[in-house]
Amino acid sequence: MILVTTPTGDIGTRVLKGLLEGGEPIRVVLRDPSNLDSDVRGQIDVVQGSHADATVIGPALDGIDAVFWLPPGPPTAESSEAAYVDFSRAFRDALRTSSVSHVVGVSALGRGWGMPAGHATASIAMDDMIGATGVAYRALACASLMDNVARQAEPIREAGLFFQPSPGHLKLPHVAKADVAARAVDLLRDRSWTGVEDVPLLGPEELTFDEMAAIVTDVVGREVRFREIAMADFADMMRGMGATEGMVKGYVEMLTAKNEGMDLAFVPPDRRDTPTTFREWCHRELVAALSGGDARS
Ligand SMILES: NC(=O)c1ccc[n+]([C@@H]2O[C@H](COP(=O)([O-])OP(=O)(O)OC[C@H]3O[C@@H](n4cnc5c(N)ncnc54)[C@H](OP(=O)(O)O)[C@@H]3O)[C@@H](O)[C@H]2O)c1
Repeated sequence: MILVTTPTGDIGTRVLKGLLEGGEPIRVVLRDPSNLDSDVRGQIDVVQGSHADATVIGPALDGIDAVFWLPPGPPTAESSEAAYVDFSRAFRDALRTSSVSHVVGVSALGRGWGMPAGHATASIAMDDMIGATGVAYRALACASLMDNVARQAEPIREAGLFFQPSPGHLKLPHVAKADVAARAVDLLRDRSWTGVEDVPLLGPEELTFDEMAAIVTDVVGREVRFREIAMADFADMMRGMGATEGMVKGYVEMLTAKNEGMDLAFVPPDRRDTPTTFREWCHRELVAALSGGDARS
């Protein structure tokens, strides 16, 4: 049986769907089971509670062979370390006495970067902590998610603009959440792999934010521009959205590291095996997000 965490999140929903289509027996752990689709609820085992809670995750691992592990990184956490490493400690402890042989975790690029990189550094520390338990572990080391652009549906719709504290000419890799979920499903279904490894997920191409704006313009049929904002303004924006000072620091450090080249520093350039292009993602998901829809279902 496979345990899926965050089964109602953007990535977790797709992982759950992919595993169910493959006929895998599934258990999910989530805080509010009423958020599950009723047709899905009838096909799976449900454990209620947070996967960070020792009294929840321990029993949830009973009889489980493999786990999809996603630390949600809530903006209200005290720090990046709290959001990723501390969040995963009870899971790490429970793994040691469990039947689990394989774990696939959602993580970030940045292994080997010499500077603090906030959420990326903490995600990698989480990977090391889980990997040290002796389970077979694959860390899905994600580039920036294309889907971040959809979070700016409102300014795109209202003002024809999206923002980031990064130069418009900076080329970065971007991967679609759908591809992250598909890779997780493949790894969870075929568990012939062993040991501990990072799986860099880079998308098929590197794009600048200006190039992304041109693609969005083309797909939605009206001008959309990218605007670089100051890191201090970005930090204020995150505070305004309820992020703690520790999490603001984590976002700022991570985006600073990305601006300085972290995402491409240590990844072999041939690791281009997540297929969705930004243009395809815009057609499949951004158009739906701009019209208030949900492309996950
Ligand atoms: N954004 C990027 O560019 C980027 C880059 C690299 C890696 N990542 C990683 O990508 C992942 C994002 O996943 P996603 O998009 O699927 O997230 P999402 O859509 O925001 O889903 C998060 C899920 O976590 C649950 N959740 C939130 N707080 C929780 C808590 N304290 N305890 C238990 N469950 C909780 C939520 O469910 P309920 O609220 O309904 O309980 C929700 O289903 C994160 O791990 C992030 O670090 C992001």
